[in-house]
Amino acid sequence: MGQVKVLNHPLIQHKLTFIRDYKTGTKAFRELVDEVAALMAFEITRELPLEEIEVETPVTIAKAYQLSGKKLGIVPILRAGLGMVDGMLNLIPAAKVGHVGLYRDPETLMPVEYYVKLPSDIHERELIVVDPMLATGGSASAAITSLKERGAVNMKLMCLIAAPEGVKQIQDDHPDVDIYLAALDEKLDEKGYIVPGLGDAGDRLFGTK
Ligand code: PRP
Ligand code: URA
Repeated sequence: MGQVKVLNHPLIQHKLTFIRDYKTGTKAFRELVDEVAALMAFEITRELPLEEIEVETPVTIAKAYQLSGKKLGIVPILRAGLGMVDGMLNLIPAAKVGHVGLYRDPETLMPVEYYVKLPSDIHERELIVVDPMLATGGSASAAITSLKERGAVNMKLMCLIAAPEGVKQIQDDHPDVDIYLAALDEKLDEKGYIVPGLGDAGDRLFGTK
């Protein structure tokens, strides 16, 4: 079964409080999501493998390190996942970015896929699938299935906030995928919103509704 890791870094938790606050407007919300995504990317890349190399400094030859594992890819689930991409690219600028477009039907809560565009070497990359919200888990599970059908073999899922129902869905459907969160919340309400959550992530990021 995939692991669930809540990233408890104080800066992540502090910023998440303002992200949750209904008084936080679109501009600040977007900036904070960007910052938290970067901090989470820092944590999630902690275990990347390194290899020792030599570098010539102005003084002498030094032993140094560079990343040695698979190349990285970031896959936001549209639309709200877009809000996490720039923050991550600040830390891992060479990552390629794929897109999976899904929305959750408000009546059935079932995911509807409307767009997929991925790097051609997706099967060789370590992918980080990003979406601020993991509620029922239907959208993220469908996105991961879609990626696997197109050749992806190595994935992590990174979300700001999850409900226990969403975590269970991913663990049941994709036991090979570890989940990284800023917070694991209490439950879903009758409309499928995370409680206490932050509301509708896409609407708050893009100022819609
Ligand atoms: C939100 C969110 C997730 C999904 C989570 O997207 O960004 O993708 O809901 O819910 P689930 O776990 O129950 O599937 P939404 O469908 O509102 O689309 P948007 O990003 O275009 O606003
Ligand atoms: N999608 C959101 O944007 N927020 C929720 O709480 C659940 C799904």
